[in-house]
Amino acid sequence: MTTNILLLGADGQVGWELRRSLLSVGKVSAITRLDCDLTDKEAVTTLVVDHKPDIIVNAAAYTAVDLAESESEQAYALNRDLPALLGELARQRDILLIDYSTDYVFDGSKDEAYFEHDQAAPANIYGASKLAGLQAVQDSGCRYLVFRVSWVYSARKGNFVKTILRLAAEREALSIVNDQIGSPTPASLIADITANCLLLLNAGIGQPGVYHLAPTGQTSWHGLAQEIVRQGIALGMALNIKPEEIQPTPTSAYPTPAQRPANSVMHTEKLQRAFQLQLPHWQEPLVHLLQDLSARS
Ligand SMILES: NC(=O)c1ccc[n+]([C@@H]2O[C@H](COP(=O)([O-])OP(=O)(O)OC[C@H]3O[C@@H](n4cnc5c(N)ncnc54)[C@H](OP(=O)(O)O)[C@@H]3O)[C@@H](O)[C@H]2O)c1
Repeated sequence: MTTNILLLGADGQVGWELRRSLLSVGKVSAITRLDCDLTDKEAVTTLVVDHKPDIIVNAAAYTAVDLAESESEQAYALNRDLPALLGELARQRDILLIDYSTDYVFDGSKDEAYFEHDQAAPANIYGASKLAGLQAVQDSGCRYLVFRVSWVYSARKGNFVKTILRLAAEREALSIVNDQIGSPTPASLIADITANCLLLLNAGIGQPGVYHLAPTGQTSWHGLAQEIVRQGIALGMALNIKPEEIQPTPTSAYPTPAQRPANSVMHTEKLQRAFQLQLPHWQEPLVHLLQDLSARS
């Protein structure tokens, strides 16, 4: 029997990649903002009732971290109220719900990598709204799989990798924050692991729950910028700046409305063990994306 998958947020970084990855799992109904305003509870309920999915994959979210400080109502509508409604609908209809959480549920004050069970303490509205969404999913009593991800990039939409390539081509000098660390994660990896876990769950491997999903290794935004430029130059991209010319700078030099965690590194052993998966080092998939972008330019 065909597995029906309802994919929400299908035009986002992760959602776009899921359109491709989920094809190996079942029939995908890809929903974008044009199809449904996901803050409209009646419309979302109708969507679920009409599509009769076996699995809902929610890749939609309010992700404008700084704007969320002044638009908390919108952030909570997408990041808390939508997962809460999906959890309720999923429980009533025995649908498996897939959702995504964020490293921003942690305040980043821990000296080591974060475990799934570490105390959440969001330092900004975005993180607080995402944490409220996770708690709502857990409270709903539905079957769920939540992947906590961080530092997401892709060939689509605005993200750090694309911004650095643009700035390195336009400018003569660049200063990047070096006191926030994390593990840069391609949206394609998140989508592929999501699809793999769904197939494995179906085969009796792994269990629902909350899992950290990130490549191995860690770096700072400054280290990531240097690696992007190093790889970009190696691929023949026309960049004005050399990696060693990128200046490290403290977060305090770039005040933003939302506070960001200094440490976003997450342990991923739980995911690797439960689903018998191996995660790549963060530099490996970055090469792949830069090759793609280079071939397009
Ligand atoms: N990006 C990161 O670094 C990061 C880090 C940690 C966790 N995450 C989590 O990972 C998941 C995927 O993130 P992402 O980077 O793929 O996000 P994204 O690129 O911002 O995509 C979010 C999608 O949600 C859609 N959306 C927002 N409001 C909507 C509404 N009212 N009705 C319908 N659709 C709406 C957006 O539509 P439009 O395209 O029309 O705007 C967009 O396609 C999210 O749960 C996010 O919280 C992301």
